[in-house]
Amino acid sequence: MKALGAVNALYPTPTALVGATVNGKANFITIAHIGIMDHSHISLGMGKVHYTNAGIKTNKTFSVCLPSQDLMAQTDYCGIMTGKKTDKAALFELFYGELATAPMIKQCPVCMECRLARTVDFPSHDIFIGEIVQTYADEAVLQNTMIDFSKVKPLLFDMPSKQYWALGAPVGKCWNVGKQLKRKGG
Ligand SMILES: Cc1cc2nc3c(=O)[nH]c(=O)nc-3n(C[C@H](O)[C@H](O)[C@H](O)COP(=O)(O)O)c2cc1C
Repeated sequence: MKALGAVNALYPTPTALVGATVNGKANFITIAHIGIMDHSHISLGMGKVHYTNAGIKTNKTFSVCLPSQDLMAQTDYCGIMTGKKTDKAALFELFYGELATAPMIKQCPVCMECRLARTVDFPSHDIFIGEIVQTYADEAVLQNTMIDFSKVKPLLFDMPSKQYWALGAPVGKCWNVGKQLKRKGG
């Protein structure tokens, strides 16, 4: 095995459009450094230089929408342009749920609205931890009442190749395939 140095190899991650109200206007930022804290809390790693951070800090709310592959260009655009100079929200049809300052995108098949639970102050990044207040899904991506990610067609991201990737086919059942290695009686 070759040592690579302290390289973050925790990819791919989903690419999200994070919505916030900044200076009274909806804005969206593309975020792929995104994580799961527990069943109801998620995290965003957002560089302090970004325009969106102030809106999250002021209103203590944000949304996390999952774009499908067909929104790839719009998603990339929201990661290239700044809301300081560009009205990125104009690309989308917006809707609001329970939180008046967490804009969401109708074209995204899945959106979560979040209340800011905690901010972890890293030197260059704000780590925003949000409590999921409500989740919205297009009925077209539901299998019964569960989100079917093969229908969502999420955009996966990896830093080394700087490419968007598609989800592959399932290969096995979790909490199940390992059972075959259990010794009889073990
Ligand atoms: C695919 C992709 C993923 C990104 N992921 C992150 C991220 O996880 N954290 C971050 O701080 N910036 C990330 N960015 C950069 C921001 O989206 C970008 O700087 C954006 O223009 C900032 O918008 P704002 O100035 O309106 O806040 C990403 C950009 C792209 C294209």
